[in-house]
Amino acid sequence: MTPTNMEHIKKLFIMPNSADKFHEFGNELLDLLHSFFTEKGGIHSSIQLGDLEKIFSNTEMPSKPQRLTEVLYEIKTKVIAHSVKVGNPYYIGHMTSAIPYFIILLEMIIAALNQNQVKIETAKASTFLEREFIAWMHRLIYQLPNKFYKKNIQSKDIALGNMVVDGTMANLTALLVARNKAFPETKDFGGVRFEGIHEAYKHYGYDRSVIFVSKRGHYSLDKVGRILGIGGNNVIKIPIDSNNKMDTKILEARCDEIEKANMAGGPRTKIIAIVGIAGTTETGNIDDLEEIGRIADKYGAHFHVDAAWGGSLLLVDKYRDMFKGIEKSDSVTIDAHKLLYAPPSLGMIYFRDGSDAKHLMHTSNYIIRKDSFDIGRFSVEGSRPFSSLKAWATIKIIGRNGFKLIFDHAFELTSSLKKIIVEHDNFEAMNEPELFIFNYRFIPKEVHEKIKVLRDRVSSAWANGECGKEVEKDAEELEKMNIVLNDLNIELHKSIREEDESFVSRTMFDIPKYFYQNCVILRAITINPLTTEGILNEIIEHQNELGMKIFKKHFARKFKKFKI
Ligand SMILES: Cc1ncc(COP(=O)(O)O)c(C=O)c1O
Repeated sequence: MTPTNMEHIKKLFIMPNSADKFHEFGNELLDLLHSFFTEKGGIHSSIQLGDLEKIFSNTEMPSKPQRLTEVLYEIKTKVIAHSVKVGNPYYIGHMTSAIPYFIILLEMIIAALNQNQVKIETAKASTFLEREFIAWMHRLIYQLPNKFYKKNIQSKDIALGNMVVDGTMANLTALLVARNKAFPETKDFGGVRFEGIHEAYKHYGYDRSVIFVSKRGHYSLDKVGRILGIGGNNVIKIPIDSNNKMDTKILEARCDEIEKANMAGGPRTKIIAIVGIAGTTETGNIDDLEEIGRIADKYGAHFHVDAAWGGSLLLVDKYRDMFKGIEKSDSVTIDAHKLLYAPPSLGMIYFRDGSDAKHLMHTSNYIIRKDSFDIGRFSVEGSRPFSSLKAWATIKIIGRNGFKLIFDHAFELTSSLKKIIVEHDNFEAMNEPELFIFNYRFIPKEVHEKIKVLRDRVSSAWANGECGKEVEKDAEELEKMNIVLNDLNIELHKSIREEDESFVSRTMFDIPKYFYQNCVILRAITINPLTTEGILNEIIEHQNELGMKIFKKHFARKFKKFKI
């Protein structure tokens, strides 16, 4: 039993006299983590969610101190044992994937130093390291002249960017700046920051304001609309083309309509920002950033790029072309917990014009004083960990050349998977991958043949402007078949989860080649450096076996009803 006295409590805060005690605990902890990574077996623990509920249903908070080793044991048996092995090479379902082992040690340094990045009084060297890292990333995106970076890398009066908690906060920060820039202070108006959105509309003569993004935009942007006070419905979704990219002609037409209405006297709308995506969460496609940038410039809107998923590819020069136009953006979101292989969560926001950050500027008398070096003057968040250490050290340890190998490998995996699926009789490719996200579905050959006939008939009839009863009937049959296929893929996905040998995620969205009907798809994210082509073959063959079993048992009869 551990004594409850102040001497004992104090000891918990003091580094042990000899390193031995610290090592003893540390070794035990490292052993635990090591066995989690090396243990064989399933990806998800087989425990039922109801049983986890029961394990963590103690309503009484502990009063008596417990021994560290006892708590460690509890963590081992109740938490580690039932965690998801997202680093397993057969786990190709989410952006959360393998991390390099050294990051675990970097996390220890971050915890041990306990720096609070909000102010220099609690974050000395770490403030300067963070600024250096931000300048590196800014340079990757914007490629401004050397003298710009020499001058600004440690300038305390601007912020080239911010480390933030996640991609959502990065998007929020960018669009908050955009909103504040759209309704700035004048001689007789204090700016939207201080007077609020209602007064801003009154002062500038607007009835509403909008943000444009494609319909593949991440849901964080809807949250942003709600938080900024412009209303979630005013984050307007522009239709996409056949490759999941924003249809920029429609974007320009929408902007044009707004401009004409504004000139005709109303209702008057302010376009606060246009968001390009690089790449989309569900399909990994990159918008035409150059064209979106041109349109944003034409209509005087802030141009933000949500590169939470793909932005780190800029580390490798040969992939830069995919992001053409990003250098014209006003701000860019990148998540380090995606393609910089950091653990969650670590978002980043960058501003081309470092002085844009003045639209976020806060000061206070006890910290973040006006003339201080405190980086907390420019952030929405207050206290923040020294997470930049992870990203800074990872780039040093892996190097841009190492990232090239990682991304080349990920590209190879994506094209291997696409080839496996395209050549397989019982699967169908559902997107044209650009960035390590491949969508497909299970569709037995006999069903695939029928559905292709229907799709071709509908497509050519519509292309020829036919819309008679026959076409309508075909379109209806196609829709019904897709609904049954959706059920089949949901059943297959459940079965993949139950077998627990591999993992891909499942989602549903409107598929261009099926005339934007909602289809259930399996989504593979092939970024784990330890995944191989052989593993992908095994995964798909296993899914084929499971799928055929389910098809024969529950679905073959349903599909027979479709007479094509
Ligand atoms: C394109 C895009 N933007 C924003 C986000 C939100 O990022 P986070 O989950 O870090 O808040 C995501 C997350 O997947 C994303 O893919």
